[in-house]
Amino acid sequence: MTVDPARFSFVPGPIPYPTIVGGAGVYLHAADGRKILDGAGGAIVGNIGWGRTEVAEAAAAAMGQTGYVVPLWPTPQRLALRDRLVEQWLPDGFTNVFFTSGGSESTDSALRLARAYQLGKGRADRWKVIGRHPSYHGMTLGTIAVASHTARQAGYEPLMLPFPKVPWDDPQGVLDVIQREDPATIAGFIVEPITGAAGACLTASDEYWRTVTDICRQHDILLIADEVMTGYGRTGLKFGHQHFPLQPDVIVGGKGLGGGYVPIGAVAAVGEVAEVLRTGGFMYFTFSGNDAACAASLAVLDILQREQLVERVAQKGPEFGARLHDEFSQHPMVSDVRGRGFFYGLELRCDRDEVVRAALDRDVWVYPAGSGPVPNAVMIAPPFVINDDQIDRLVTVLHDSLDHVMDHQTRL
Ligand SMILES: Cc1ncc(COP(=O)(O)O)c(C=O)c1O
Repeated sequence: MTVDPARFSFVPGPIPYPTIVGGAGVYLHAADGRKILDGAGGAIVGNIGWGRTEVAEAAAAAMGQTGYVVPLWPTPQRLALRDRLVEQWLPDGFTNVFFTSGGSESTDSALRLARAYQLGKGRADRWKVIGRHPSYHGMTLGTIAVASHTARQAGYEPLMLPFPKVPWDDPQGVLDVIQREDPATIAGFIVEPITGAAGACLTASDEYWRTVTDICRQHDILLIADEVMTGYGRTGLKFGHQHFPLQPDVIVGGKGLGGGYVPIGAVAAVGEVAEVLRTGGFMYFTFSGNDAACAASLAVLDILQREQLVERVAQKGPEFGARLHDEFSQHPMVSDVRGRGFFYGLELRCDRDEVVRAALDRDVWVYPAGSGPVPNAVMIAPPFVINDDQIDRLVTVLHDSLDHVMDHQTRL
């Protein structure tokens, strides 16, 4: 089946994508019979792999029970997911969870939360949320403004609040910007523990994270960890920030929480933050905590736990990383290999779309990434169930694809 992209999407983009009609394990099934090895879990979402019918069954059962319940009303599915997150996933003290329908709604809500928290404390002058350069936090107007992703911001500048930006790696730069802006105007600070789509796994030093945590504590700036990509086991721990001396007050999740099966996100906060909010009010979205989404998410978490998939990432991650380093560090088209767990980026010396396209022509999907200081990169972030033969194929095909792009460039 071929589809004219103009019929389907606002932004067809440079690559003609195949129509996907199914999936199983690490493979996406295309309408023309191709089986595409999903080296990026879709958009770094598909942690448990594809075709898990028990997730669909859980969602169907919830839909069969109730269609819709206003988010302020408790339901068994909402309560069960909240309890599971608080008791088994979130760090101690994170007792309050606000559900959304994805990453952007969650990060945007976290910005609102930072403002509401400061208002609750009687600090009306505090509205700025610090972002990092580069970073990506989603596509609402609030999140494109707080992030630093050139391509996603281009043209929308008049609609963007002037949130201050700090460098992704320089602790002194962080201190300087906060001083210059005046801490008494700053409500929050949002960080990706390992920079995802904008930086292809840029990883700051422990010193950087210590400085960020300390300065936020010192000035009661709400520290928000955007774990939309890094959360729910992707890096080999439950959350990415746990690799570093980084202690957030708010943890934002999406993507892997629903495993790609349902649109769901969650903003979790420590009890003290939620306590301040009780005096204010924090409006929900119509589909916050949708029952089918919560039930499906619980089924995803069941699978992660039953099959010990996060532990699997922790165990296989170093071997996976070593393989990527061996294979690509010396490749002329690659300037850096970095990451952790099953979350890796290759920074490229060539056009990323050409690499993605060459890989897709060879039935492998890798995720295009990069912005600003990282103009071209791809991310490799397979489902946690990938086996050794499949890793071998992923790496070999990506190598061939890079060779192909290099040959093409040499001939030009
Ligand atoms: C770190 C991060 N935050 C937020 C988002 C936005 O999530 P969504 O696309 O589900 O709205 C993304 C999406 O890629 C992300 O990587």
